Amino acid sequence: MSTLLIVDDDVAICRTLQLHYSSQSHTVITTHSVNDGLLAAASNDIDLILLDLKMPSKSGLEGLTDFHEVVPEVPIIMITAYHDMESTIKAMKNGADDYIHKPVDINELDQAVERALIRTDEEHTNVPISTDDANQNKNKHFRMAGHSPAMREIYKTIGLVADKPINVLVTGESGTGKELVARAIHESSHISEGPYVAVNCAALIETLLESELFGHEKGAFTGAVKRHHGKFAMAENGTLFLDEVGELSPAIQAKILRVIQEKEYTPVGSSTVFKSNARIIAATNNDLQEKVKLGLFREDLYYRLQVVNIGIPPLRDRKEDLMDLMQTLLCRINREMHKSISHLSVEVISAFHSYHWPGNIRELENVLTKAVALSPAETITLDLIPEYISACPQTEFDSTMPIQTSLDEMEKCHVSRVLNSTGWHKGETCKILGISRPRLRRIIKQHKLIDPSGSDHEDIEFEEDEALVN
Ligand SMILES: Nc1ncnc2c1ncn2[C@@H]1O[C@H](COP(=O)(O)OP(=O)(O)OP(=O)(O)O)[C@@H](O)[C@H]1O
Ligand SMILES: [Mg+2]
Repeated sequence: MSTLLIVDDDVAICRTLQLHYSSQSHTVITTHSVNDGLLAAASNDIDLILLDLKMPSKSGLEGLTDFHEVVPEVPIIMITAYHDMESTIKAMKNGADDYIHKPVDINELDQAVERALIRTDEEHTNVPISTDDANQNKNKHFRMAGHSPAMREIYKTIGLVADKPINVLVTGESGTGKELVARAIHESSHISEGPYVAVNCAALIETLLESELFGHEKGAFTGAVKRHHGKFAMAENGTLFLDEVGELSPAIQAKILRVIQEKEYTPVGSSTVFKSNARIIAATNNDLQEKVKLGLFREDLYYRLQVVNIGIPPLRDRKEDLMDLMQTLLCRINREMHKSISHLSVEVISAFHSYHWPGNIRELENVLTKAVALSPAETITLDLIPEYISACPQTEFDSTMPIQTSLDEMEKCHVSRVLNSTGWHKGETCKILGISRPRLRRIIKQHKLIDPSGSDHEDIEFEEDEALVN
C-alpha cells in the first residue's frame, strides 16, 4: 500500500481524509502548511501528495514548485475551493497531476488518487514546471465562464496541453466556445507572446484558401500582383487556429498533412520550400469521425489533428453554467456599450433555464446584447427578450435541469420560485419549503434574492466584479 501526504490548513479535512485513506490500508501523514509538508516529504517515502491550494502562510500553488524540487517524481493532487479557469490552468501547468474541488466528493478524489498511483507505478511524467506569470493579465481577456464539471475538465486539459507541442482538436456545436478554448490554450502557453492566427477553412473557395494558408508568389495566378505571405508564415513561433477544419478539400487536407508531418510547405506558384513551426489547433462542429468513415476526411490527418480532443458540451447540457455566463457576458456587454445593466428579473432567469439554446453561448450573448441595448433601466425584464424564449413554459424549468446541476443552483431557483408564488410571504414560503425563517433569510441573502415589493421589478442583483471579467 502507499504513503499519502495531506497538506491542508483545515484540520477537519485532514482528519477526515486520514481516516478514509487509513481505512484503505494506506499510510497517511498530515501537515497543515507547505513548509511542514516539505519537511515530511523530504523525510518520508511519499507516493502521493494531496495539496490544498489556499493556505495562510504559503499557498499550495507556490508550494507546488517547492514540492517538485524536493520530490520531483511524486504526483500532486490539488484540492481547492476555487473553481475558476485561471487557477485550474495554472495548477495544471505548474505540474499538478489532478485538481479536485471542495467540497470534496470522495468518489471523485478516490478515482484521482487511484489514477495518480497507477501512473506512478507505470512511469510518472510531470508536466514541465513553468512559473511564468507574465500571461496572467492577458489570460483574463479570454476568461471562460462556467464551473460545471465539464468546464472544469476542459480547464484542466487546457492547462495540461498548453505547453506541449501537440495538436489539439476542439469540437462542439456552433457557439459553444471552441475559438475561446483555442485562444485560452494559446494564451496559457509559452508561445503566448507569439502570434495567434485564425483562419476559417469554410469561408474561402479552395484556390483562395490555399493561397491564404500557404501564401503565393507574384504572378502565381491572375490577380496575384504581388507576393503574399500565408497564414502559416504569419503564425511562425505562434499558434495557427484552423476553424471549421471539416470543410477542407482533399487537396488542402493533403497539404496540411505535409506541414504537420514534414513541418514544411510550398507557397502557390513557388518552388521554395518553407519551414513551419506553428502550433496547430483545429476546430469543427462536424462529426469528423463520421466524415472519415464516409471518405470525406483523411484518416491520417484526423489522427494527426486530434492528438488531444477537447469536446465542449452544448449549453443545454450544462445549464448550471448559465448564471456565471450571464454575469460574465453582461459585464462584457456593459463595457462595450457603456451601459450599466446590473439586474435580470427572476422570470428572465427562469425562462433562460427553460430554453434549450440551440445557438449556445453565442445565442445567449446575442440575446443579452439586444436586451442591454433596448433596456431603459438597469434591469433586463421579460419584455426585452425574444418571445420564443420568454414563452418557454416555466414548468419545463425543473425537468430541463441537467443531472449535473448543483444543489446550490437548485436551491436558488426553487426558493425564488416559491417566494414569487407566495408573493414573498415568508411564513407561507417557509411552510412550503419546510424550513425555518432564519434559514430562509440566510438563503435569500446568500443568493441575493430581492423582494420586489419595494420596487417595480423582481430582481436578482449581479455583482459587477471587474476582476472576474477583465
Ligand atoms: N465559457 C465561456 N465564457 C464566456 N464566453 C464564452 C464562453 N464560451 C463562449 N463564449 C462566447 O460566446 C461566443 C461564441 O464563442 P466561440 O466563437 O468561441 O464559439 P465557437 O464554438 O467557435 O462557435 P462557431 O462554431 O460558431 O465558430 C463568443 O463571443 C465567446 O466569447
Ligand atoms: Mg468558431
